[in-house]
Amino acid sequence: MTTERYIFPHKHLLGIEPLDSRAITALLDQAQAFEEVCERPDIKIVPALRKKLVVNLFFENSTRTRNSFEIAQKRLSAEIVNFDADSSSLSKGETLVDTALNLEAMHPDLIVMRHSAPGAHTLLSRHMKASIVNAGDGAHEHPTQALLDAYTLRKHFGKLEGLKVAIVGDIRNSRVVRSNLWLLTKMGAKVTLVGPPTLVPQEMKTTWPDIAISHDLDAILPEQDAIMMLRIQFERGTGRYIPGQGEYIKFFQLNDQRLKRAKDTCVVLHPGPINRGVEITSEVADGPRNLILDQVTNGVPVRMAVMYLLCHPHGEQVP
Ligand code: NCD
Repeated sequence: MTTERYIFPHKHLLGIEPLDSRAITALLDQAQAFEEVCERPDIKIVPALRKKLVVNLFFENSTRTRNSFEIAQKRLSAEIVNFDADSSSLSKGETLVDTALNLEAMHPDLIVMRHSAPGAHTLLSRHMKASIVNAGDGAHEHPTQALLDAYTLRKHFGKLEGLKVAIVGDIRNSRVVRSNLWLLTKMGAKVTLVGPPTLVPQEMKTTWPDIAISHDLDAILPEQDAIMMLRIQFERGTGRYIPGQGEYIKFFQLNDQRLKRAKDTCVVLHPGPINRGVEITSEVADGPRNLILDQVTNGVPVRMAVMYLLCHPHGEQVP
């Protein structure tokens, strides 16, 4: 009997939307293999990206994602260049495409970029030979966050299919939600979006017809296997959509009292950064059901898997 060898077909990770369930599973399985490397007591490094030049281009703030990518690159033995967006020629009026063409002239193998413009990565991918990884583009997608969320859920529950996941908060402005919606629905999870009507656009059901929308967190909590809390994105103007923080907290904050309505087995996720006392209280964020720091830990093997599979398009297996 011969087992068919899966060849990862993508050159870029621009979002989760273009991936099918097989590609997502390949990424999660590869991440599992790299988790073993990250947990070694001594040398947590493999030569999988040796001699590959990786450029990190972060035009928007980032703590977790940027550090996680850099640690993942170091664990894969890549050569790393961190492009300082503030001191770059972009501030002198150079276009993104010109910056990209100049970078291209230095022959990088992979570019990891965070940018405020949705679709900036697609534009870049048309002008560059390097593989492009989207580390967040405006309110559009944040594919590696969704992959690490899925990895964390799959590790905890042993599966994604059939899981009931509520995503609560600033749905309107969240790229984390959009990537999670693509991923979770492709993998057969049941997603409910929760928040005030102004933050949960009904039109989202046009793109993802199988999801549910609720404005009553208390009512949907008892059915959920996992609750993913989101920060209010004040920097993207969300303040205009809610009457006030006090009102929001009253109906949508996850606190111990509210969490009592959920099943004992229900877990809590958050992509960070947390606004303690707003969308989530410290007792829940630090409590026994939270997987928040597991998400951060899992981000490293997940990003190793993404960069490895994009740079090895011929289906080579884990070294
Ligand atoms: C998120 C982001 O930047 O989109 N954070 C992250 O990458 N871990 C979510 C947020 O900023 O609220």
